[in-house]
Amino acid sequence: MAVSLTGTDIHLAFGATQVLRGVDIHVDAGKTTTVIGPSGSGKSTLLRALNRLHEPQRGDILIDGRSVLADDPDLLRRRIGMVFQHFNLFPHKTVAENVALGPRKLRKLSKDAARELALRQLEQVGLAAKADVRPGSLSGGQQQRVAIARALAMQPEIMFFDEATSALDPELVKGVLALMSDLAAGGLSMIVVTHEMAFARNVSDTVVFMDHGKVVETAAPDRLFDAPESPRLQQFLSQVL
Ligand SMILES: Nc1ncnc2c1ncn2[C@@H]1O[C@H](COP(=O)(O)OP(=O)(O)OP(=O)(O)O)[C@@H](O)[C@H]1O
Ligand SMILES: [Mg+2]
Repeated sequence: MAVSLTGTDIHLAFGATQVLRGVDIHVDAGKTTTVIGPSGSGKSTLLRALNRLHEPQRGDILIDGRSVLADDPDLLRRRIGMVFQHFNLFPHKTVAENVALGPRKLRKLSKDAARELALRQLEQVGLAAKADVRPGSLSGGQQQRVAIARALAMQPEIMFFDEATSALDPELVKGVLALMSDLAAGGLSMIVVTHEMAFARNVSDTVVFMDHGKVVETAAPDRLFDAPESPRLQQFLSQVL
């Protein structure tokens, strides 16, 4: 079920501002690639280009080696689960209803089947007991786990995480990172944008360092963190570690 994803020579500009300037990125099936880099380097834009929320102006996107640029973008987005910093759950729906909504609307499951699936996904993120409460009564970390369950309920072939823990209180970060580690260990393909360097080092198979819309360095975590080659990465690591 897990797939590989490759972006080659991805270019993207907003008006005159060139934000991605030829990015190459790859994640093997069932593996985790983490993207690190300074604010404004283009990490979020890269994820949005890879699922074609913003159409790249040059380059290619391949899933399992096949270009998806000619596919219906909606179909592509259904194959890719997205988790953002802000979880945007519907406040007036219950937790289970939030998770069941996508499967009902997009996968056309019956109400009962969607609820059953939602309960299974909530179980996986450790929140089965919260199925029938409203999101507002949960902690930020629990809400983010619901957002992850919501994405997983669409049965994506790959997951993108964009600073999924950045808006959380420090004591809540651990639980969400632990869940992400479990998903990675379970063989989900993931591209993770994060400022959590311990996660990048311990969980990823590959780390990509971006600066100014380009990939400066790509390597296995031990090599990238212990023996950074470029001065720009050395400087970045000296600031964040
Ligand atoms: N919709 C947009 N229109 C114009 N410029 C944009 C748009 N989205 C992003 N940018 C610009 O693209 C650059 C990269 O932004 P992006 O959000 O991808 O950075 P980032 O690496 O995710 O930063 P952060 O770590 O702060 O989240 C920034 O200079 C930003 O101002
Ligand atoms: Mg960002």
